[in-house]
Amino acid sequence: MAIEGPVAIILAAGQGKRMKSDRAKVLHEVCGRPMISYVVDAARGAGAKTIVVVVGYAADQLYAALDGEPDIRFAVQEEQLGTGHAVKVCRPLLEGCEEPIMVLVGDEPLLRPEPLADLLDRQRKEQAACLLGTAEVADPMGFGRILRDSAGRFLRIVEERDCTPEEKAIREVNPSCYVFEPAALWDALDRIGTSNAQGEYYLTDAPEELLRSGQKVVALNVLSADDILGVNTRQHLAQAGAIMQARIQDHWMTEGVSIVDPPNTYIDGRATIGRDTVVYPFSVITGDVKIGSHCKIGPFAHIRPGTTLAEGVEIGAFVEVNRSTIETGSYARHLAYLGDARVGSNVNIGCGAITANFDGVHKHPTVIGDGARIGSNSVMVAPVEIGAGAVVGAGTVVTKGDDVPAGATVVGVPARPISKSTG
Ligand code: UD1
Ligand code: CA
Repeated sequence: MAIEGPVAIILAAGQGKRMKSDRAKVLHEVCGRPMISYVVDAARGAGAKTIVVVVGYAADQLYAALDGEPDIRFAVQEEQLGTGHAVKVCRPLLEGCEEPIMVLVGDEPLLRPEPLADLLDRQRKEQAACLLGTAEVADPMGFGRILRDSAGRFLRIVEERDCTPEEKAIREVNPSCYVFEPAALWDALDRIGTSNAQGEYYLTDAPEELLRSGQKVVALNVLSADDILGVNTRQHLAQAGAIMQARIQDHWMTEGVSIVDPPNTYIDGRATIGRDTVVYPFSVITGDVKIGSHCKIGPFAHIRPGTTLAEGVEIGAFVEVNRSTIETGSYARHLAYLGDARVGSNVNIGCGAITANFDGVHKHPTVIGDGARIGSNSVMVAPVEIGAGAVVGAGTVVTKGDDVPAGATVVGVPARPISKSTG
């Protein structure tokens, strides 16, 4: 199958030793998503039609994580001999491709599509054999530094380990965002060596190599410090998470969601929230949660994966909702647990009411019909169904399979019906 360009190569074969982890570094999560997913999104957003992910350490984990994405191909780097070598292993896959190749690294989850699109565009306009994006940062530690001549023209990249003290002071750094003309890339990679502090094939030597052979290389300072935070340690992972969280919240506020206390709120990168919903402090929304408009969430609510809340739902203090659907106008204001529940509209879940969805082996569903009233401290042992308009008295235990008919009132342990006239 012919490769469609532009192509983005994402380097992700390294172990990330400084993470001290059994997991491939690029699969560590930032706001609920593996960091490489953000890089994939940024590459796609910039216009990449084919994405080649270079895998090595824990390759199976990467195959599993990126499974079923039709525009993603994998190239295997058996031994991690350096970033230059990592790009080289993509060559057989990309043979014949004449469109520009963007090279990115999988450990920079904060990359955004716009500056990458800009890089692709500029490479085309400049007809450069290599165009690289750079950034100016307050603390350049860990990055390769950009060396320019007195006229400001790009000379080369020096890795921190190979820097002189003067070079170390340079604050313009290499974020590893390159666009290459393919023939020039393969040619340069054939010529780079390993005479550096780590004895590796450095991709960073490719631009210099191209200049040496008289080709055009342009370095543009178009990336911002926030975009290029590279995750090499758990501390970096936390920093990236904080910046990403602020971006996620900013997005939802722009869409009309009120977030009362942003630093004390957590919203997963996959969640969606409707306008005029208010999220109160200390609320945690994890996974692919869908929250409708005009909802009230928290304080201290925990909304977990697989949950959908329709319009005007209220989930209050110390309420956990997991893999559940709650229809319009229903509320659980205090101290409740709803797991594997299908709750209709205008249902009142009382304080302390829970669904007992787990029998120790399997999870079971609870269905609660429209307008039902679930009393305080009641337990619904799943699988069970509470009919529309039914009333479950305070402290009642509705036992497994003993469905409550629509309109009935049940009380006690185990639940038994009472008639409203005599009860
Ligand atoms: C690299 C750059 C440096 C740049 C920095 C941040 C080189 C030599 N240095 O350094 O100039 O400032 O990124 O962008 O390129 N990888 C492989 N195979 C390998 C080695 C690495 O796939 O053999 C992958 C890693 O999984 C990682 C990425 O390449 O995703 C970067 O590797 P890393 O070791 O983090 O490079 P840095 O030291 O950060
Ligand atoms: Ca890195």
